[in-house]
Amino acid sequence: MALIDDLNWRHAVKAYDPSKKVSPENIDKIIEAARLAPTSSGLQPFTVIIVENQELKDKMTAGALNPECMRDASHIMIFAAWDTYTAARIDEVYDFTTDVRGLPRGRFSSYTDKLKSIYLNESDDNNFAHAARQTYIALGLALAQAAELKIDSTPIEGFDNNHIDEVLGLKEKGLKSVSLIYLGYADQAKDWLATMKKVRRPKADFIIEYR
Ligand SMILES: Cc1cc2nc3c(=O)[nH]c(=O)nc-3n(C[C@H](O)[C@H](O)[C@H](O)COP(=O)(O)O)c2cc1C
Repeated sequence: MALIDDLNWRHAVKAYDPSKKVSPENIDKIIEAARLAPTSSGLQPFTVIIVENQELKDKMTAGALNPECMRDASHIMIFAAWDTYTAARIDEVYDFTTDVRGLPRGRFSSYTDKLKSIYLNESDDNNFAHAARQTYIALGLALAQAAELKIDSTPIEGFDNNHIDEVLGLKEKGLKSVSLIYLGYADQAKDWLATMKKVRRPKADFIIEYR
């Protein structure tokens, strides 16, 4: 029940108070929620980047739909997915998995061979799209964790991906930005959405139920 209360509490904040900072402990908890997100085959094919540095935030605002929010939020969380799947990336994850579990390397080789036969025959675009979809599960959990901590947030796709990739040097890391979360504390006077009712499609329209 508490989770539902948290989800009702949160909204996509439209203005942040630049004088209010999220504590490092709470940022760690939000990152941990994202890290614990389930992903297809457990590959976690993305990296989370956290920007608190004001100079970097200012640089990132070019091309953003709401640049003031990006500038004034305490932290920007960037979800950047693998640009494609490779045998080396798949092996690295599964070598780590067997090491953590104390199993012999190669224990899951029949499964990783299957993964490779699928992904290595796909286009880079399709592989990136698949990896990008995984980031949204982490984005959702990070938003929920922020809400539980009563930290304001805004999920964001309205930004210039190429610009963010360039500013953060993502291409060299084999990553491409997918989405962002602004984290911080709302400017109560300027956040025009705060007083508006939450709107969701009615249950009867949202659900098809077979009992
Ligand atoms: C993936 C995603 C991308 C979004 N991108 C933006 C955005 O670029 N700018 C913005 O102001 N809101 C953005 N939103 C916020 C949505 O408009 C908002 O979540 C939705 O209207 C529901 O309102 P609520 O979050 O306040 O409940 C985005 C939300 C999601 C989930």
